[in-house]
Amino acid sequence: MTMTTTPTTEVPFEQIRAAFARGYQSQRQELAYWIDEVEGTIPPDLHGTFFRNGPGLLDVNGQRLHHPIDGDGMVFSMAFANGRAFVRNRFVRTKGFLEEQEAGKILYRSPFGTQKPGGMLANIFDLRLKNLANTSVTYWGGTLWALWEGGEPHRLDPYTLETLGLDDLGGILSPGKEFAAHYRIDPDVAGEPHLVNFGSQMKLGIGFQEDATIITIYEFDQAGKVLKRHAYQIPGFSVLHDMAITPNHCIFFQTPLDYNAIPYVLGIQSIVQSFRLNPSRPTRIVVLPRDPEGPVNIYDTKSGFIFHLANAFEDGNTLCVDAVSYADFPQIEPGENFLDLDYRRFPAGELWRYTIDTNTGTVERRFLYPGTCDFPTLHPQNQGRPYRYVYLVAAPPDKTRWVVQTITKLDLATGTTDVWNAAPYGFPSEALFVPRPDGMAEDDGWLLSLVYDGEQHRSSVVILDARDLAQGPIARLQMKHHLPHGFHGCFVPDYFGPEA
Ligand code: CO
Repeated sequence: MTMTTTPTTEVPFEQIRAAFARGYQSQRQELAYWIDEVEGTIPPDLHGTFFRNGPGLLDVNGQRLHHPIDGDGMVFSMAFANGRAFVRNRFVRTKGFLEEQEAGKILYRSPFGTQKPGGMLANIFDLRLKNLANTSVTYWGGTLWALWEGGEPHRLDPYTLETLGLDDLGGILSPGKEFAAHYRIDPDVAGEPHLVNFGSQMKLGIGFQEDATIITIYEFDQAGKVLKRHAYQIPGFSVLHDMAITPNHCIFFQTPLDYNAIPYVLGIQSIVQSFRLNPSRPTRIVVLPRDPEGPVNIYDTKSGFIFHLANAFEDGNTLCVDAVSYADFPQIEPGENFLDLDYRRFPAGELWRYTIDTNTGTVERRFLYPGTCDFPTLHPQNQGRPYRYVYLVAAPPDKTRWVVQTITKLDLATGTTDVWNAAPYGFPSEALFVPRPDGMAEDDGWLLSLVYDGEQHRSSVVILDARDLAQGPIARLQMKHHLPHGFHGCFVPDYFGPEA
């Protein structure tokens, strides 16, 4: 495989920014239909359902949110069988969504900067958060969950995407208890897959108390039964969005954030806007045991802010963790408009490998891919194990700081890349790897991604052959409408469409 790029005509940045910004228009319609516009051919042996979550509303009755991460969750599904596809999208009907739609205005402050109208007096001392249910979606043990890290998951009907209510996991989650959006599926625990998730609770130090983070680990069997639940209090404050797993460990990056709670409590800033990365303090790699009796280990290293981890694996006395690090915590400041941001001044997401010597406690790090990238994915069978290929959404190869417009396959053995470039007007989201039935090679499968087209203002699903991205999609399924830029999802082998 060689470095391949699709040539594109040069389009001014302002035009690309405007096309990207159109992808932040709210989608108020909830639709369900068979895809009838396909370029190429849907592989007939691609069978199952692709789910994705992301903000559906970027405004409430015209009152614009401050940050897209504050948008109400809209779940998308595309069900594949016999070379056909059925698409559906629906809002997660959270309590906050229903209240705000009824009121026709913003009633809640949200973590990334959205404030209620009326300035400081309307927001002061109001520390309630709305469960946004917008970050990921997964199907496990017969249940479809819309996930958001600040609270309980919402249960959805996998066929209709109808909201069935909050899930307290059979009484395990107390109201408002954190349950992360970044679960991992261990493909083989004594021959059975397990879902491992965590909840991260910030404990801000008050008076003589130190800041702390309480991390709870959950492990589910294939039927959805909770097998393990164990909690740890780790010194220091951070935001834990994602983790990696190995057969024995759950691994977190606790990057050093300082915060100033006063503007938040006073209603001037959101909680996240009060965070600042403090590069003078070390990043801690927190390694928690999957086995509740196992040891906790914490290693110091240096990093920027980390949202997403790609993977981790054990190799004798070394533990390798791959993660996307930003030189600074990306913020949208109170006076800024996210539609006008110049992405060229944002810190770049860089993929690094951290290699921990568990005997000596030393950590070495090296670049895996220095361009701007994020949303790493891999073959599900390699989760927590040595792996060769990681799939990224990345800036075009000739641009260092840019909007992510490509799906890039990085060969970790050779360092080479294989790129599908959707520029100038295509904006792909997380690319999920779907193994080909009976496929043996690590890259024998398809990549599925929802792509926003900023020229036509509609979305499509592209299917790429993971062995050859540069040839372009083997199928592009055009939707009749757009979905705003979104976050994470899953592919499951069950077909949740209507009867053909
Ligand atoms: Co994420």
